[in-house]
Order: sequence, then structure tokens, then C-alpha cells
Amino acid sequence: MSKEKVVLAYSGGLDTSVAIKWLQEKYNLDVIALVVNLGQPADIEAVRDKALAIGAVESYMVDARKEFAEEFVLPALKANAVYEGKYPLATALARPLIAKYLVEQAGRSGAKTVAHGCTGKGNDQVRFEISVAALNPSLKVIAPIREWGVSREEAIKYARKHGIPIPATKTSPYSVDENLWGRSCECGVLEDPWVEPPGDAFSWTKDISRVPDEPEYIEIDFRVGKPVAIDDKKKRLVELISYLNRAGGKHGIGRVDMLENRLVGIKSREIYECPAAIILLLAHRELEALTLERDLIHYKAGLEQKYAEIIYYGQWYSPLREALDAFIDKTQGSVSGTVRMKLFKGNAIVVGRKSEKSLYDYSLATYEAADAFSHESAGGFIELFSLPIKVWAKKQRKQKS
Ligand code: ARG
Repeated sequence: MSKEKVVLAYSGGLDTSVAIKWLQEKYNLDVIALVVNLGQPADIEAVRDKALAIGAVESYMVDARKEFAEEFVLPALKANAVYEGKYPLATALARPLIAKYLVEQAGRSGAKTVAHGCTGKGNDQVRFEISVAALNPSLKVIAPIREWGVSREEAIKYARKHGIPIPATKTSPYSVDENLWGRSCECGVLEDPWVEPPGDAFSWTKDISRVPDEPEYIEIDFRVGKPVAIDDKKKRLVELISYLNRAGGKHGIGRVDMLENRLVGIKSREIYECPAAIILLLAHRELEALTLERDLIHYKAGLEQKYAEIIYYGQWYSPLREALDAFIDKTQGSVSGTVRMKLFKGNAIVVGRKSEKSLYDYSLATYEAADAFSHESAGGFIELFSLPIKVWAKKQRKQKS
């Protein structure tokens, strides 16, 4: 009788590598590895082959870069989605897409079970499992690392015993996750929030002491909320994001040192590198400032926070996210134009913005002779606008005396 199968989301890292062996030993399952290319700088074919070398019966790779950029990163950009004011959500955005491919592969392979390499302390387990449940509630999920409860040291020992090559050595003690939208780095000395991240925690961005002394200017064109060109050169989204990761990284842009609140209740220290995300979020917000009506942009800001939370909490496949997308898409109709930025010494600085849809009216804003603003109306406006506070203040004084 042939064995039952499990489809494992495989990254080539320590946890998912030991998971292949463990799923065979503990559950007697045939492991089908699935490697999803989301723009991480790994050699994807080597990763696929590594799974076979460790003992997977089949190993597949999917190139999901375009889908990731268009269907996940772009909606998040339109929503200016940033968790707790700092984290552009690269890892969190990737999980629902990986889950989608896991579910599809399980369908093709006739597997009743999927697996991921997340620990029991992180957000990623939640994101994978909610997503799988939303896409195919009849699938079972196994989380080998969580179930097994191994420490990093024990996982390394187990890997050594089974001849599994280990990427995390003494010189690189971090847990890293990467995709097009950013890189995250945790563990090792970073677990002490007082310790400055050592140079080896970074890989996408130059240290500020080694960046160019000359600023670089770039112009980013947006069409209905989507970045489409840099310096007048049209670029597909994947290419545009990769370009900005390189350009920003060269100037030391995109480093985030953060103490964040995980969904499972832990505060954790994370180091992110996300040059393209930082640059694009800044540029996109700036174009919105120029083109969105006041009440709309204020109201949208509240929803943006909720949107970021939905992504962080793993609720991508939810009716609330879909409904918010409809609202956000509606707001993007006028978000077309160009933002000019200066990349310099670790900073991305907006220095200019223009749009056909601009709501900036020079004759209203100017202090020069062309001024068309109704100064005489201002007095009456203040009179009525201040009325409730005046009434209240009068009463306060009376009660005190
Ligand atoms: N703390 C970040 C998040 O929750 C990054 C997680 C990184 N994941 C990982 N498997 N190394 O999205």
C-alpha cells in the first residue's frame, strides 16, 4: 500500500529541512516539498534539489513573484499597510500566497495534509493555518517544529545526525526570512533589545558609513495607485521593486530596528531591511497627500491601520480584507502622478510631487499677490467653529467662581 502524502512548504532553511526527516520518521508520510519563489535571493533550484537529497519523494518550485507583487504587495501598498508604524509586512504578506500553493499542490497530489516549518511562538503558524483553513477547510495541517518542540540547538543536532546541511552556523546565528518586499532577521544577539544589531545582521543594505557621498535623485510614476515607472522608464512591478531594493540598499535606506507585538502575545525584537517598501510607501503616501480630498485621506488612515493588522494577523482571506480592498481601490482613482525623491545617507526624502489630479490650488495657498482665498470669510468661520468650545469654557468659569 502506498503511503499517505504531505505537502511541505519548503524554504531550504534549518527548520523545514529537519521537518522533511521528522515527517517521515514520526508520521511515516511521503513528503512532497514545495518551494515558492517570492523573490528571495536564494538559488531556488538548489533549494528544490536539497529537499530531494534530504528525502522528499517529490519536490516542486513555483515562480510566484508576479502574483506576489501584483496581488499581495500592491494592495498593501495602496493601503499604506505598515504594522505598528514600522514594519511593511513582507513576511506576513507572503504566507497566504504560499498557503494557496500548498493547498493547490495538495489537491494535485491527492494529499490530505500540508505542513509548515513554523515554531509555536511566531505569527507565521497562524497565518499559514488560517489561510489553509480558508482555502480548503478539509485539509489537515502538521507543524513539525511546533509539535516536536525542539530548540534551535536540538534541531541542529538532529540535522547533523541525519546528514542534513545546516545554513545556520556559529557565524550566522540568525533566523532570516526574505522576499521581494523585504528581509527579516531575528534570534542570536538580537534577542537583547539593548544590543545594537551587528553588521552581519544585514545583507540588503549598506552600512551608513559606506554609502555614497553624493545623493541620487529618482522619479517614481504612479498610475491609479500603482508604481509603473522610474525616471520615465516603464517597469513591471517585480522589476521596479527589485530595482528600488538595490538603489535604496546602496544608500543604506530601509533598515528597521523594531520591538513588535506578535499576535501570540510576545514582544519580539526584529531587524528588517526593506528599501523598496520604505521608498514606495513614502512616495505613495505623498501622492495621496496631493490628490486625495481631506476627509477621505483622514478616514482612509484609520482603515490603513486595520488593514495592516489584518495582514499581520493572518486574515488575508477574509471578508473584511476584501471589503476594505473595494474601498481602497475606489480611493486610488486619482492617485496618478510623479514623486521626486532624493536617496541620501540612509534616507529617502520626498523633494517634489506633481499630478494631473492634484488638489493643490496655488491661488488658494499662496501668500503672494495672486491670492484668491476668502480672508473675510475666515473670521465668521472661526466664530461658528469655536462656538461649542466657547460655550463650554464659559460654563467652566462660572462653576469655578
Ligand atoms: N516578525 C515578522 C512577522 O511576524 C517576521 C517573521 C519572520 N519569520 C520567520 N520565519 N523568520 O511577520
